[in-house]
Amino acid sequence: MNSFEIHIPTRIYFGNSKAGSFFDRLKDYGSRALIVIGGGSVKRTGYLDEVTDHLSSRNIDYVLFEGIEPNPHAATIDKAAAFGKENSVDFVLAFGGGSVMDASKAIAGLIHNDEKEIWPFVLGEPKYKTMKGALPVATIPTTAATASEVTAHAVISNPEVKGKSPISYPFLKPSASWLNPVYHTSLPLETTRDGASDILSHVFENYILGGNESPLADRYSEGVMQTVIEALPNVLEDPENEALRGQLLWASTMALNTMQTAGRVPTTFLLHNLEHALSGYNPNLAHGRGLAILYPAYFKWLVQNDRCVDRLALLGEKLFDIKTADINESAAEFIAVFELWLENNGLYQRLTDQDIPVESFDEIAEYALRVYGDSEKIDAAGPITKENIVEIFSLTEEQVTEKLSAEEI
Ligand code: NZQ
Ligand code: ZN
Repeated sequence: MNSFEIHIPTRIYFGNSKAGSFFDRLKDYGSRALIVIGGGSVKRTGYLDEVTDHLSSRNIDYVLFEGIEPNPHAATIDKAAAFGKENSVDFVLAFGGGSVMDASKAIAGLIHNDEKEIWPFVLGEPKYKTMKGALPVATIPTTAATASEVTAHAVISNPEVKGKSPISYPFLKPSASWLNPVYHTSLPLETTRDGASDILSHVFENYILGGNESPLADRYSEGVMQTVIEALPNVLEDPENEALRGQLLWASTMALNTMQTAGRVPTTFLLHNLEHALSGYNPNLAHGRGLAILYPAYFKWLVQNDRCVDRLALLGEKLFDIKTADINESAAEFIAVFELWLENNGLYQRLTDQDIPVESFDEIAEYALRVYGDSEKIDAAGPITKENIVEIFSLTEEQVTEKLSAEEI
């Protein structure tokens, strides 16, 4: 096994009945909170009133910043940080999906460092700056997707330069997170699907590229993947079922809390690098949707290039009970069965269905290489060059369009 170091400092409260313990804990972080929310879903559902009642009953004062976009924009984060600074907040309470949680971490960093603009801090920027700390962050995730409720990362978009990339520091890991499946029952089906795809990716990526050295990491990751593969269709059938929502929610937190990679060969997060470049190009592309589009193409590309075929075959065996005498055959069968799963769950599309034209593939590949690679290649079980990235993007064009009508959603 490879050496590793793990630090998971987030206090996790799971379940509706854990509200009391979570809000009591927030008193440790100060007496004035900056609540950060997105485009208003938590207002429309009435959930925000519940949260502010909990704060008020504990004499925790708060100010509210509303309007973080999906794929959060750097300029909005700058505004929110200025607002938090003006109001002398002690900590940040993120109430929303990954975009809100990521924005909150960035805001907490800007306020602590007395800085005004987030974009110079993101990976790949020519005048890259580093942070020295952050205000405490607490989160209440309303999507089952990113695991931002436990991660050190915040992914920031800048539509002005068609860019999207992360900041990442151990001190950005939230201090406390309340995982309440009740708040997930309002999640639209489209966002539910996209989130499930993101969860899978967090375990797929390292499973495929991370070698055979950590059987426990393999079994752990297979458990997360099996849970998602079984739970998603059930949630789509019965979206208001709290127990089912809870299964996806817990899987999402477990998928990117660093345990999933323990003992494996460290790898780049290639699909994520490519997807961030795609949703940087088109900020309306949901992260999980972009990943779902890339999966079959990327897997086929790996087989065509004789990379990690044994790991794809193993995935087929563990997730779908596929066993053949030949690993190439098993890997091909796995890809076909998984494509069908994506199709059945409304996740099977092409990049051009998401307004990413073929003519843009070169430019997007260049961005990914500049930010995540050495500008010539990204290392992922062998080098991946610009031509390779364009090949992967082009393979998505062979996929069937599965546009869902509003009624179906
Ligand atoms: O903004 P509101 O009105 O809240 O609506 C949101 C948004 O439109 C809606 N929504 C969220 N919870 C809801 C709800 N609607 C009804 N009921 C609820 N309970 O869902 C839409 C999408 O939200 P968003 O936060 O953008 O989705 P997600 O959680 O998938 O987050 C995606 C972002 O996280 C980044 C992605 O790149 C992307 O920018 N990631 C962050 C990571 C991290 N910090 O570690 C890792 C991930 O791999 C990922 O890259
Ligand atoms: Zn992700």
